[in-house]
Amino acid sequence: MRIVVAGATGRTGREVLAVARERGHAVDGVATTETAVDGVDVRPADELADRLADADALVDFTVPEASRSHAGMAADAGVAYVVGTTGFNQQGTADLRGAADRIPVLKASNFARGVQALLDAVADVVRTLDGYDIELTETHHNGKRDAPSGTATTLLDRIDAVVDDLDRTYGREGHQPRGNGEVGVHVRRAGNVRGEHELLLAGNDEVVTLTHRAESRRVFAAGAVDAAEWLVGRDPGWYNFADAL
Ligand SMILES: NC(=O)c1ccc[n+]([C@@H]2O[C@H](COP(=O)([O-])OP(=O)(O)OC[C@H]3O[C@@H](n4cnc5c(N)ncnc54)[C@H](OP(=O)(O)O)[C@@H]3O)[C@@H](O)[C@H]2O)c1
Repeated sequence: MRIVVAGATGRTGREVLAVARERGHAVDGVATTETAVDGVDVRPADELADRLADADALVDFTVPEASRSHAGMAADAGVAYVVGTTGFNQQGTADLRGAADRIPVLKASNFARGVQALLDAVADVVRTLDGYDIELTETHHNGKRDAPSGTATTLLDRIDAVVDDLDRTYGREGHQPRGNGEVGVHVRRAGNVRGEHELLLAGNDEVVTLTHRAESRRVFAAGAVDAAEWLVGRDPGWYNFADAL
């Protein structure tokens, strides 16, 4: 398979290049400027359309404004599109969904299998522990742009689906007790942390924590390549990581 990686010079993109090569795929990369990563010629992003001409899949870990146009280019080229970029606004998400009318698009805010298991479990846990206080804390490296993380937002959406009148409270200060229905959301940015998410539920004289910790960026890269391998040849449409797993 021929895989083009957008963001090939980035922290995650260079791992995608490495994993895809290890699995025997032909790889190509684009980033903002021309360079080379581990012997792969990385071209400027304005050459992406050319790069896609003979590609099977585009795997994208860049920034939302770039991914919006990459989705359109993948659709024009008829290439399966896997996107790991996070932090899209409504218009950005709409653009990706528009591309899914023409090509298979798989979007995931987290390509770790463990996070998928956490997402699958969270609604059941929250339902069983009805009325417990819930606090969500995520920690990432100091270069991460969007906050809270896409994974934290997805976890909150899952909780929202089973809790009435959920009140997302981003950080706290001042003098007031915790409100009913509050879910505290806490964001930490420091060093080179790959990604940690902890959901804490407390009530009934007990505390339950569900924690996922990525120990290297390989886990995201491997998941994204798994997704690309699964996506190529599918019908146009909107897919998620759970579909591929
Ligand atoms: N879904 C997941 O599992 C997962 C996991 C990790 C990260 N992410 C997300 O993936 C994204 C990238 O994260 P990262 O830590 O790898 O970022 P990063 O290290 O900052 O890398 C960003 C990459 O995007 C390229 N880029 C930036 N602007 C571009 C543009 N306009 N056109 C084309 N390429 C552009 C950069 O190229 P230059 O270096 O040439 O500027 C670089 O290669 C973020 O949104 C992050 O939250 C998702």
